[in-house]
Amino acid sequence: MTVYSQRERFWWAERVEGVIRAIRNVLELLAMPEWRIRMRSTTRLFLLAVIAGTVFLGSGSAYALPEIGSEAFLPVTGCGCHSSLIEDWQPSMHAKALSDPLYMLKRDEANRATDGELGEFCDSCHGPIAVMSGENADLATASPQSLQGVVCDFCHQVTGTNDPLGNVSQILEADGTKRAQFDDANSPAHETAYSAFHESAQFCGACHNVDHPTNGLHLESTYTEWSEGPYAAEGIVCQDCHMTFGPGVTKPYPGTAAAGGPQRDHVYLMTFVGGNVGLGDSVLAEERLKAAATLTLSVDEIVAPGDMAEIATTITNVGAGHYIPTGLTEVREMWLEVKAVYPDGVEEVLGTHEFGSILKDAEGNSPAELWEAVAFEKDDRIPPRESVTDTFEFTMPERDEAEIQAALFYRSCSEEMAEKAGVEIPTTTMASASQAVYGSDAIASAAKTSEGGGDGGSNGLLLSMAVVGLALGVGTVGWFALRGRKGSSSAEG
Ligand code: HEC
Ligand code: HEC
Ligand code: HEC
Ligand code: HEC
Repeated sequence: MTVYSQRERFWWAERVEGVIRAIRNVLELLAMPEWRIRMRSTTRLFLLAVIAGTVFLGSGSAYALPEIGSEAFLPVTGCGCHSSLIEDWQPSMHAKALSDPLYMLKRDEANRATDGELGEFCDSCHGPIAVMSGENADLATASPQSLQGVVCDFCHQVTGTNDPLGNVSQILEADGTKRAQFDDANSPAHETAYSAFHESAQFCGACHNVDHPTNGLHLESTYTEWSEGPYAAEGIVCQDCHMTFGPGVTKPYPGTAAAGGPQRDHVYLMTFVGGNVGLGDSVLAEERLKAAATLTLSVDEIVAPGDMAEIATTITNVGAGHYIPTGLTEVREMWLEVKAVYPDGVEEVLGTHEFGSILKDAEGNSPAELWEAVAFEKDDRIPPRESVTDTFEFTMPERDEAEIQAALFYRSCSEEMAEKAGVEIPTTTMASASQAVYGSDAIASAAKTSEGGGDGGSNGLLLSMAVVGLALGVGTVGWFALRGRKGSSSAEG
């Protein structure tokens, strides 16, 4: 087992940085137009693979991670005193980071495209123990702690980060001491130490900022999005939203951190819930997604048949500490759909807006894969507490009424990708809004009266009931009047 000293690590980091800088220069040269014309893309891919090879070959330390045997880390079963935290972590994407079918699909594709070299980079985040121990070379024989992805004992032996943050910039002391936020923890099972770093967003940012390994493109920037946003300014960190029991900041949560441990004013949960409804904890993930955004809709209430009206929708990122979507945004799907629904059930889609990012390669082709990407072709994610307004046009057909419906949907990946990976990824409605539109004032007031003045949704059945109701009302009043009784003359309408 090798434990690198701080200085040795920096020595390595400097070497590696030098190599990366040199490669970046070569790549820039390759990206120049004259090269682009002369070289076929297969040749360029081959060159890229060769270059990638010089960085990745045999070096688990190309990223800040040192070489450490897996025996320096406990598998999750070794954390038995924290059974409720284990239950939190088990359904999380951290537990599945090195087995998740979507990851394994992309890992295979990345390896195939780069002659097996890129997998090491990918695994360094998705399975850091597997990389440090070299066990990722053959997952079939890897130890449980390696296969358990982002497991307890990786996180709890981290002491800090190298600079720049990201691409697994963690510094580790794999000495068996467990580090977290309590300065008075006392365990019969292991040494404990207080770590202010565990209370920081940088702790998460070391993995939640992903840069392209050779050209430095910021592929995933969840940490940066947070650090430049309002939550960072208010001191609300990732842990406050992702390690508490509800969406938003649900603190304090009193409890014990271990069986037999002292009662604490607040303990964090190891749930790490995000938006992965298909593969993570579906109930909690759905709750997070629904808390992330609000959607409002406005359109004229009266639109005469043949007339055109403008529909305006506004989506606000009210609940996420970073952009929505965030993370692997070229894979995530978040889209707004606006449609008109007529009383007989006929629907007409009026427009959509897909939010997210699209990558492009050196030749300008898009969408490009993560490893081919040199730039973003498009990026219209919504920053924290910011809004995006879209407008759509609606022409009223020869109809009395329509309901305009808008909904914001989310899916972790496309249906094609899910199918390739052999998993089912559901679509979640993050937010929705609707408004009724009528062909004339008269129809509007008739419809509204029947609904008791509400301006919510309406349909053909309600409208016909209103008409029947109105007829009955008028009839009854008439009948009473005919009978010469003192009917309520105001009953009409
Ligand atoms: C992704 C990294 C990560 C993983 C995985 C992880 N933890 Fe934690 N854990 C943290 C951080 C960060 C804190 C402190 C949060 C803070 O103070 O802001 C913490 C806090 C704790 C605490 C202190 C008490 C509490 O609940 O607040 C214990 C005990 C603990 N974790 C045990 C575990 C166990 C057991 C597992 C595995 C089942 C686990 N952790 C998985 C990062 C992690
Ligand atoms: C060792 C690297 C590492 C660290 C440290 C880390 N994460 Fe992660 N995290 C990952 C990886 C890898 C995934 C994606 C796994 C997958 O989906 O296959 C992930 C996924 C997530 C998700 C998404 C879950 C979903 O439903 O899509 C959330 C939320 C998350 N992490 C929060 C955190 C927070 C909060 C911290 C800090 C306390 C943290 N992570 C620290 C690597 C890390
Ligand atoms: C104010 C609360 C809040 C804070 C602070 C916050 N998040 Fe989130 N996060 C959310 C919500 C809500 C979602 C669900 C919406 C979504 O998926 O974008 C989410 C989703 C995620 C996801 C899943 C994205 C996906 O694939 O759908 C990851 C990963 C993540 N957060 C990581 C982080 C990290 C890392 C930090 C700190 C740098 C952080 N979050 C800070 C609320 C927060
Ligand atoms: C520096 C850390 C890091 C590296 C390196 C990394 N990832 Fe990830 N990966 C993450 C994090 C964090 C997430 C979660 C983000 C989110 O939820 O959107 C993630 C999520 C994913 C997912 C989505 C999984 C799911 O179930 O939705 C795939 C697929 C993926 N990564 C593939 C790759 C591939 C392929 C590579 C190598 C080219 C790679 N990753 C390298 C950190 C990393």
